[in-house]
Amino acid sequence: MKIAVLKETYPNERRVALVPASIPALAKAGLEVLVEQGAGQAAGLADDQYTSKGGRIVTDRNELFRADLLLQVRTFGANRQAGRADLERLTAQSTVIGTCDPLGAPDAVREMAQTGASVFALEMIPRITRAQSMDVLSSQATIAGYRAVLLAAMELPKMFPMLMTAAGTVAAARVFVVGAGVAGLQAIATARRLGAIIHAYDVRAATREQVESLGGKFVELKLETGQAEDQGGYAKALGEEFYQRQRELLGSVVAQSDVVITTAAIPGQPSPRLVTAAAVANMAPGSVIVDLAAERGGNCELSQPDQRVVQHGVVILGPTNLPAEVPLHASQMFSNNVTKFILNMVADGKLTWNLDDEIVRETLVCHRGEVVHARIRQALGTDPKPAAN
Ligand code: NAI
Repeated sequence: MKIAVLKETYPNERRVALVPASIPALAKAGLEVLVEQGAGQAAGLADDQYTSKGGRIVTDRNELFRADLLLQVRTFGANRQAGRADLERLTAQSTVIGTCDPLGAPDAVREMAQTGASVFALEMIPRITRAQSMDVLSSQATIAGYRAVLLAAMELPKMFPMLMTAAGTVAAARVFVVGAGVAGLQAIATARRLGAIIHAYDVRAATREQVESLGGKFVELKLETGQAEDQGGYAKALGEEFYQRQRELLGSVVAQSDVVITTAAIPGQPSPRLVTAAAVANMAPGSVIVDLAAERGGNCELSQPDQRVVQHGVVILGPTNLPAEVPLHASQMFSNNVTKFILNMVADGKLTWNLDDEIVRETLVCHRGEVVHARIRQALGTDPKPAAN
């Protein structure tokens, strides 16, 4: 079975889905790895690094699309404009593995289904212990959290650590992290390493201990969340009344912070609006907000995707693809995830299509010309069960 590593086409995407170090494990499982010429270049990985590990460099993209498995960080749904050119290259023999934003762009999944290709959406990997090593959302969120802190540190007219010097004492920066999931926890750890004072808040009660174990102070809001998380460990949407109250209570913590990093997300839904324009106006000029939820509407009312907005003297950043700014490690982690994912589905050099395996079943979004995933079918307004499968 041939597996093709495609060059990314999303603007400014510098990651690659597979790094050379992953090739031997795939080869051992009976897979031949083809790599598009220059696929790893933007991540600092030269073609000869791939060949030295047993990969074969291919220049013709059409030839790569004749492989059995197609590997990409961003397939069509996660790359709506530039990715369209690849849609016509897909056939009923293709099996695509990558991110495709299935809950955010279910109509793109339908278009992929119409090509007859089978598509595995890596965003849908279930959050179970066995799948932890395959979880690209976690690995890439780790990088985003780290990078968000660096961006904030570069913008802030202050240093993060408290310093007592002959030239006087400077106070430590105060960083507030809203949403203590994977990205938020990494932001806390990174800001802490730089010496900041950290406060953090999340609607999921379990995060308190995690925040404290990283040296952050959990912010207590007098809010009744009830059951704030679903069975998968994700936050649930909590209703406008709750968010209204949360915005009011968060306002005073935001006002006292030099840096606010927001990461609050509800899978498949717009992000909760938590930092209002009025709260921004109450921050000291020179303060910085990094809104990691900007792509889905933003946690901050004033953030714009991929823009640097300055309002009331506060810098508001809304980066949407931070992992691409740390492309080597992001690719390495993605590659490890995806290699584990593939090896879980391969026996004797072939895909097993074992739909009794929750990981296979939950990630398969298109098969035999149809959207087969119940949640995506629901988002498209079709019957939960596909006809032909
Ligand atoms: P995410 O990216 O969907 O959300 C980020 C954070 O925002 C979450 O912690 C969420 O609770 C929080 N949030 C949502 N609404 C909020 C609000 N109104 N105010 C404040 N915070 C709000 O989540 P992420 O980071 O991808 O994962 C969430 C959790 O899932 C992890 O912390 C972990 O417990 C679990 N997980 C389990 C895995 C496994 O077992 N394989 C793998 C990865 C994560």
